Amino acid sequence: MTKQDVGVEKLSFYTPSYSIDIHELAIARNMPPEKWEKGLGQQQMSVITPHEDIVTMAYEAALDILTVEDRSHIGLLLFATETGIDFSKAAGIYLHELLKLSPSCRVLEVKQACYAATGSLQLACDFVRSNPDKKALVVSSDIAWYGFKSAGEVTQGCGSIAMLVSNQPNVCSVEQGQVYTENVPDFYRPSFSEVPFVDGKMSIKSYLSLLKKVFKPSSLDYFCFHMPFATMGDKANKALGDEQIPAERLEWSKEFGKLVGNIYNGSLYLSLLSLIAYADTSLAGKQIGMFSYGSGAIGEFFKLQINKNYKQAALVGLVQERILNRRALSFNEYEELWTIFSEREGAVQYSPVASYQSPSLRIALEKVENGHRSYRLINDD
Ligand code: HMG
Repeated sequence: MTKQDVGVEKLSFYTPSYSIDIHELAIARNMPPEKWEKGLGQQQMSVITPHEDIVTMAYEAALDILTVEDRSHIGLLLFATETGIDFSKAAGIYLHELLKLSPSCRVLEVKQACYAATGSLQLACDFVRSNPDKKALVVSSDIAWYGFKSAGEVTQGCGSIAMLVSNQPNVCSVEQGQVYTENVPDFYRPSFSEVPFVDGKMSIKSYLSLLKKVFKPSSLDYFCFHMPFATMGDKANKALGDEQIPAERLEWSKEFGKLVGNIYNGSLYLSLLSLIAYADTSLAGKQIGMFSYGSGAIGEFFKLQINKNYKQAALVGLVQERILNRRALSFNEYEELWTIFSEREGAVQYSPVASYQSPSLRIALEKVENGHRSYRLINDD
């Protein structure tokens, strides 16, 4: 690791404690289960609870990785989301207060569909390159909601990634990438709509087209792809022709996403965590090719170099436990929870119902009053 190295010092992931089984959802929707289980490769998906939103999920992930000292060094907080709760005020302002960051920390919400987390990570690395004594916090937090009985319903999910970016990149060093931007109407959510407008086939075509435009062959051993569903990773790998990696290595990066679903901005970094958790060999010193895609559309291909202490610094044990310990919801409970979410997002006033508050929560959405949110810390360390 040279002195100029910049990248991810610590990494964590949070997802709510409830999930729905894809097989059960398929039966309830009168769909052949193998279409969603084999065709899209999904097994479960996380479901948002009445006490949680993009701010609480981001807080949970960030709390895992930040010491008091880290907080005093953070000069930039970038909050990547396409599940915004306000057109004006950045969700990161709430998070900044909850994490007790310095008043001199700059806070921005960043949006470009599922690409904003990668754009933010690259901007954060540039910030650290020009301010080597400072750190940046990048969070992605999203709730993917397409609506009941929509083609995208099986690709829902929710979760948050937190990355502390500094010149001590214990997880991985981050290289600058190749970017391609193009106006494509494949997936967008205009301000009047609760759910996105999606042309699924166009989105897959655009994803693969941008991948081919930004990919640079360099005989890499591992790839992580943005994976709204697991077989999107297979399509992407196959599109790389002679440069593709053996299917088994790709499987490692798919495991967490199969269980959590699409978390939009965090999906690529969930693949990285999955690879770290499941690879049967040490990744230290390895280079990983990362492909980020955000509809609308931007594609970026960049490389990570994995560093020596990556396993501890990426908190994979905690993340795995969190994913594997979720409680399975019945189909009726699943519909109840998404209905509460759908109704509350446009509500002027809201107070969460008492049920579904997981005992492990360290923060809860307390209420929405005149559209403004307040949060309650439950177990502040
Ligand atoms: P669909 O029409 O429900 O499914 O849409 P399909 O008919 O295309 O079938 C899916 C696969 O299942 C196909 O495999 C079928 O052959 C197979 P493929 O040919 O593609 O390899 N299949 C079966 N397999 C086994 N047994 C069976 C069976 N039947 C069919 N019985 C779609 C699927 C993903 C398009 C839909 O769910 C959707 O619109 N999802 C949302 C959009 C999306 O995820 N797009 C991905 C690329 S864009 C992106 O990643 C950006 C995004 O994250 C947003 C952002 O950037 O913010 C989405």
